[in-house]
Amino acid sequence: MLAITGLSKRYGETVALDQATISFRAGTVHTILGENGSGKSTLVKLLSGIVLPDAGTITFEGQTVTARTPAAFQTAGFATAFQEVLIAPDRSVTDNILLGLDGLFIRRIPRHERRDRAAAVLSRFARTPIDLDAPAGSLPLAAQQLVVLARAVARDPRVLILDEITAALDFADRESVFAFMRERAAAGCLILFITHRMDEVMALSDDISVLRSGHVVATQTRDASTPSQLLHLMAPQKAQQLEAQHG
Ligand SMILES: Nc1ncnc2c1ncn2[C@@H]1O[C@H](COP(=O)(O)OP(=O)(O)OP(=O)(O)O)[C@@H](O)[C@H]1O
Ligand SMILES: [Mg+2]
Repeated sequence: MLAITGLSKRYGETVALDQATISFRAGTVHTILGENGSGKSTLVKLLSGIVLPDAGTITFEGQTVTARTPAAFQTAGFATAFQEVLIAPDRSVTDNILLGLDGLFIRRIPRHERRDRAAAVLSRFARTPIDLDAPAGSLPLAAQQLVVLARAVARDPRVLILDEITAALDFADRESVFAFMRERAAAGCLILFITHRMDEVMALSDDISVLRSGHVVATQTRDASTPSQLLHLMAPQKAQQLEAQHG
C-alpha cells in the first residue's frame, strides 16, 4: 500500500533518517520501534508533508507521491496524530476535532450538528467523558491527546499515523484506542504506530520496523519477533548489559 525508498533527512550535522526503505501492507498495524532520537518522528513528519526529504521516494498505491505537502498527504487519505500535542487552546473541543474538516464544508453545518459529529468521532475510541464545549486548553493532557487523535480520525483516513499518542492515556482509553486500531486495520486501513513500549509492540503489531540512529535495521512480522531480539536490534548495548546482569 505504502513504500518508502532511500528516504533521508538531515538537520545540519544530524542525520535523522538515513536511506530508510520500508514496505507497509494494507490492513496492518505496522509499528515503528526505536529509542529516543532514532528518527521515528522524522519519518512521521516526512509521511505528513511537514518536512521534506533530502533524498528518497514515497510511493502510495503504486504512485510516487510528488506533491509532498500536508494538503497533498491529507487528500491522499493520510492523517497523523503528532507526538507534540497540537491544539488550539482557546477553541472548543468540538472546534479542535473538526479543525481539519473546517473550511471544506463543515462550517455550514449547524452548531449542534457539529457537536454531534465531534461526539460521534470521540465515541469511537474514547472512554473518558470529555466536555465538547470546554476550551481544549483547559483539559488534562490525556484528554487533549484524545482530542488530537479525534481530529485525525474525523477525516476517516486510510493511513492513520499515531506518534506515541498512548503515552499519557489511562488504562481504559489506551485499551479502547488499541481496539480501535485493530478494527481500522481489519477494515483495510494502514495504521502506523510509533512507540518504544515493548508490551504494546507485541500486543498490537502485524509488522515491526526497528530504527536505530536513523537506520532501518529490520522490518519483520510480529510472529517472527521476540522482545529480546527486538531489544537487540533497537539497543544492542542495552540488551547486552541486561543479559550480563541476569546471566
Ligand atoms: N527540527 C530539528 N532540528 C534539529 N534536529 C532535529 C530536529 N528534529 C529532530 N532532530 C534530531 O533528529 C534526530 C531524530 O529525531 P526524531 O525526533 O525523529 O527521533 P524520535 O525517534 O522521534 O525520538 P523520540 O523517541 O524522543 O520521540 C534526533 O537526533 C533529533 O535531535
Ligand atoms: Mg518522536
